[in-house]
Amino acid sequence: MSGETRILIVDDERSMQEFLEIFCRGEGHSVETAGDVPEALLWLENDDFDVVITDMQMPGGTGLDVLRAAQSESPETVVVMITAFASTESAIQAMKHGAYDYITKPFKLDEIRVVVDKALEKKKLAAENQSLRTQLGAQIRQRAMIGASACMQDVFEMIGKVASAKANVLVTGESGTGKEIVARAVHASGERCDAPLVAINCSAIPENLIESELFGHMKGAFTGADQNKPGLFEVADGGTLFLDEVGELTLALQVKLLRVLQEKTIRRVGGNTDRAVDVRIVAATNQRLDEEVAKGTFREDLYYRLNVIEIPLPPLRQRADDIPLLVQHFVEKYSEELDKRIDCVSKPMLDRLMAYEFPGNVRELENIVERAVALTTTCTIDVDSLPPSVTQQSLATTEFKIPSEGVDLTRMIEEFEGRLLREALRNSGGVKKRAARMLGISFRSFRYRLEKLGIESERGTEG
Ligand SMILES: Nc1ncnc2c1ncn2[C@@H]1O[C@H](COP(=O)(O)OP(=O)(O)OP(=O)(O)O)[C@@H](O)[C@H]1O
Ligand SMILES: [Mg+2]
Repeated sequence: MSGETRILIVDDERSMQEFLEIFCRGEGHSVETAGDVPEALLWLENDDFDVVITDMQMPGGTGLDVLRAAQSESPETVVVMITAFASTESAIQAMKHGAYDYITKPFKLDEIRVVVDKALEKKKLAAENQSLRTQLGAQIRQRAMIGASACMQDVFEMIGKVASAKANVLVTGESGTGKEIVARAVHASGERCDAPLVAINCSAIPENLIESELFGHMKGAFTGADQNKPGLFEVADGGTLFLDEVGELTLALQVKLLRVLQEKTIRRVGGNTDRAVDVRIVAATNQRLDEEVAKGTFREDLYYRLNVIEIPLPPLRQRADDIPLLVQHFVEKYSEELDKRIDCVSKPMLDRLMAYEFPGNVRELENIVERAVALTTTCTIDVDSLPPSVTQQSLATTEFKIPSEGVDLTRMIEEFEGRLLREALRNSGGVKKRAARMLGISFRSFRYRLEKLGIESERGTEG
């Protein structure tokens, strides 16, 4: 566990309260106190504690009320009861209801120390298990990164160099170039590899939810916030936070993110305390953030904070010598997955792929190979299993004849553009973000073009 331990002490006896407070502070914990149940409930509502130490018998309620409130506000909080010797029975009752432990009065300081340490150990174990699960998931998802081309060798070298640095990293590149793989590799090769890597796709989460997703929230902060919840910054504490499609963050959220990067503390939505977090940011974008900065849609100060080190990923068409290796890699992957035996990829097929533009980059190549492996009925993959988008002639090699009366260039281009936009919408099932990605343009630019050509109004699509 990271950061300081927050403890709430609830006792109506002032001397006992002070005694526990001084002791816990002396142990290096951060402490709040409450003199009765209502005050304790107020604290629990508005703050988040690792440990609550509560007296059992108090005017206006019992330790059980505190326990119940702690459990409903934030279930991870560990509650320890203090009881008079005569009432151990009620303490045992409390344990049945989920209290972690109890101490009987009079107690020795060591007993408090032991019980708090044990409670913290329990929390730490829970956090470690969570982190182990995350890592296991990451390992499973962690795939080999292929690349023999000189530019990919540069990328690998760069990953090795930045991995152990603390600086934030911005991975840039067109859609499907492997930005996420790079982000995971940066985390996995660095000193933080034992800590969690937490990923969030800023374009996939509704704007009003991103803030609480990133920074957490307190119970009651908004409708539906029925428990205190740590945000991804807290979950990633000590590790890496992967902010995918960071260019999609609204200006309002950019301000909030900048503040966190500057202060290295977060405040949960609806909360009133700052918590220290130590998180490395790896961000990714397929937009030209420098251009967004120039346009005023991305904050310059945030851009410089995120872009301490940039790892630019070249589009696949600029590293065609990687194509055969990637094809082999994906053939192995999918023939195993689909339980097929594939002995070879025909030369015409490889030639065709080497000549193709790959607007969707490695992801597109992967999809093409997966499709081909699924379709083929022999041990060889040949051109007949390629999709029309690859086999159809590219415009670059198409000859255009201009009639003597001339053409209307603007109209022709718009017509062509419209066909591509509609086709992309069709192929993406009407999901505009995906359609934009297919065409290698930003969502914003895609929307602008739809409006410009009046395609928007033709259909009732969303997304
Ligand atoms: N060098 C590579 N070696 C092997 N597989 C790769 C490589 N680059 C990308 N891939 C694969 O291609 C797919 C797309 O990669 P990834 O998701 O990292 O791209 P991206 O740049 O994040 O795309 P987007 O901008 O669309 O989010 C993934 O399945 C990934 O495993
Ligand atoms: Mg991605």
